[in-house]
Amino acid sequence: MNIHVITIDGPSGSGKGTLATKIAQHYHYHLLDSGALYRLLGLSLQRQNLITKIHENLIDCVNIARNLHIEFLPTSQGIQVVLDGEDVSQVIRTEEVGAFASKVAVVPELRAALLQRQRDFAQTPGLVADGRDMGTVVFPHAQAKLYLTATAQSRAERRAKQLQSMGEDAKIADILANIQARDKRDMERAVAPLKPAVDALVIDSSYLTIDEVFMQMVNYIDVQLAKTL
Ligand code: DC
Repeated sequence: MNIHVITIDGPSGSGKGTLATKIAQHYHYHLLDSGALYRLLGLSLQRQNLITKIHENLIDCVNIARNLHIEFLPTSQGIQVVLDGEDVSQVIRTEEVGAFASKVAVVPELRAALLQRQRDFAQTPGLVADGRDMGTVVFPHAQAKLYLTATAQSRAERRAKQLQSMGEDAKIADILANIQARDKRDMERAVAPLKPAVDALVIDSSYLTIDEVFMQMVNYIDVQLAKTL
């Protein structure tokens, strides 16, 4: 049986993670959060004192990437992420580990080492893959490709609200500067830069609710999947 793959790419803060989870639940497909893999590798290299010395220790780092011992366990509160038997679900979401992940993300050899691991997530009945290069590099033959974006300003406002709801102080100007710097790094890197696949549907979520984006996505995916019957 042909395994269906739906890719959802886009910049951070575009709502990709939430929507990828909802889409996976809707179709009863598996879910790949590829950003989590980059974060796990970043954390692992930092713990082995290699995160600032990747280039000098490239072979060791590639071996670590190929042999990362990770599990994604579905729970009632979402997916629990386990590295070498330890629950790291919270720690991988910190800004610090995000910075380690972005160091990993610019190294072509490490991206290549993670490629097959990502493809292995494509299992019956199907997969929703969330990331930056899912439709362009990892799953170029996906049946439905989506690219979700939003203005930097609206992403900064969402992030500020999220931080405030967690009781954290959030200065919108700092968050905006951070988002713009990260977009630039993601879009201008030489290997697998963030961009929509030529055959992706681009949705700008700046002025849409999650439910409105969800409906647009489902309408598009249903049409794409019907073509494969
Ligand atoms: O989506 P995220 O914030 O969890 O991603 C963490 C880092 O990994 C970020 O720097 C972008 C990078 N990344 C990538 O280069 N390619 C992917 N497919 C997913 C994430």
